[in-house]
Amino acid sequence: MKKPFSSKRRSTFAAALAAGTAAALPSASARAQRRNPLERPPLGNSPEERRVLAVLDEVYRTQRYLSVPETDGRLLRMLVESIGAKHVVEIGTSTGYSGLWLLIALMKTSGRLTTYEIDRGRHDAARANFERAGVLKLATLVLGDAHAEVAKLKDVVDLAFIDADKEGYLDYLRKLSPLVRPGGLIVAHNMASPPPDPRYVDAVTANAAYDTIFLNMHDAGVGVTLKKR
Ligand SMILES: C[S@@+](CC[C@H](N)C(=O)[O-])C[C@H]1O[C@@H](n2cnc3c(N)ncnc32)[C@H](O)[C@@H]1O
Repeated sequence: MKKPFSSKRRSTFAAALAAGTAAALPSASARAQRRNPLERPPLGNSPEERRVLAVLDEVYRTQRYLSVPETDGRLLRMLVESIGAKHVVEIGTSTGYSGLWLLIALMKTSGRLTTYEIDRGRHDAARANFERAGVLKLATLVLGDAHAEVAKLKDVVDLAFIDADKEGYLDYLRKLSPLVRPGGLIVAHNMASPPPDPRYVDAVTANAAYDTIFLNMHDAGVGVTLKKR
């Protein structure tokens, strides 16, 4: 299972849950004051960006469900924005935490997100979070089994983010890679914990069509694969 919190944070969270208080984790502003400057959270440079960051902060503190760590969310944002992605596909919406990081970048690149979730409750929660953040118009949320739904996709993809059933990664790679443009990226979460499917790791590391690096492996781990030109 993904590690949602560090052990210290988890015990604070557990204590707060036991006390019946929902907002167990410190807000971004509290973290900004307390933390090492190297760990400061991002600062919005427009009302639109600040609105998304505020919703991200709230989702992080109160609604995470196997969501990526904040650093991985920020990494996703940087990847999307730096390649100027116009179309991002996410497998595994959950409550929309990683989706919000993707959307904050797509807001700047005038791009759009297609995101897949099999659980109706989480799909609905993500929709509500995207709406509150003012980015719902940039997102298509698909409810259903992504193995079947993604096969219907026809559009070119600049970045694919895989973060759903861990044994399904190879199937997602096979279905999405032909749609990813040369020079595009395939990002896979949980490359350290839980242990990844070795067939996926082989597929992205032993094929000259790709170049793959693994980041943040002290935590859940992220594989970033370039589909070479
Ligand atoms: C690790 S969570 C995603 C976390 C999310 N990316 C985030 O960081 O906020 C995985 C999600 O994938 C969903 N999922 C699992 N199998 C799926 C499938 N076959 N099709 C679509 N979604 C699936 C689960 O219901 C769960 O909400």
